Amino acid sequence: MSDRKIRTAILVSGGGSNLEAILQAVEDGRLPRIEVVLVLSSRRDAYALTRAKNHNVASVVVSPKDFANDELFQDTVLKELQLARVDLVCLAGYLRKLSPRLIHAYPKRILNIHPGLLPTYGGAGMYGHHVHSTVLAAGEKESGCSVHLVDEEFDHGPVLAEKRVAVLPGDTAESLAARILEQEHKLYPEVIHQFSETLEIEK
Ligand code: GRF
Repeated sequence: MSDRKIRTAILVSGGGSNLEAILQAVEDGRLPRIEVVLVLSSRRDAYALTRAKNHNVASVVVSPKDFANDELFQDTVLKELQLARVDLVCLAGYLRKLSPRLIHAYPKRILNIHPGLLPTYGGAGMYGHHVHSTVLAAGEKESGCSVHLVDEEFDHGPVLAEKRVAVLPGDTAESLAARILEQEHKLYPEVIHQFSETLEIEK
């Protein structure tokens, strides 16, 4: 196994609190094999970009709005990852579906965190508050968050770990989201650590 660090890209579209948790874990020495070499945002106004800057991590915006079609957009995302010589890709609130070409370029090397339990509360349209409202409407006693490998279907690849969170009486989508997000910040760095310990990279 190579003893160099795993060159990691974090893909974001929003606030980037999971990005923050990962960068914090790297700085605290909890992710000894991980080096975050790139933050790629699909939105120019994502606060995650400020977080990257605060941690002196390189960032780039690749916005679908700047491209004539999805293929050109996706090709540019892939090109940025290749330019940065990335080994591992972590999606953290990234709201675009990845192209098959990109997924095939990083086989079993793309992770995602989802704010719900899979497979029941995943799939197309199940993101953000949609997940939490659906969980509440179903009268579930538990929800949670899941880290999974990314394949070509939304929220579909093998689940690596999940953390369950109780649904409390009086919960709203917002209160449940906040309680789950706290757990995401613990779970994602832990799973990235475990995953990184077994990942073989070329020298
Ligand atoms: C998180 O709830 C994550 O599970 C989902 O998108 C949200 C991103 O939040 N995929 P943040 O940008 O990390 O704060």
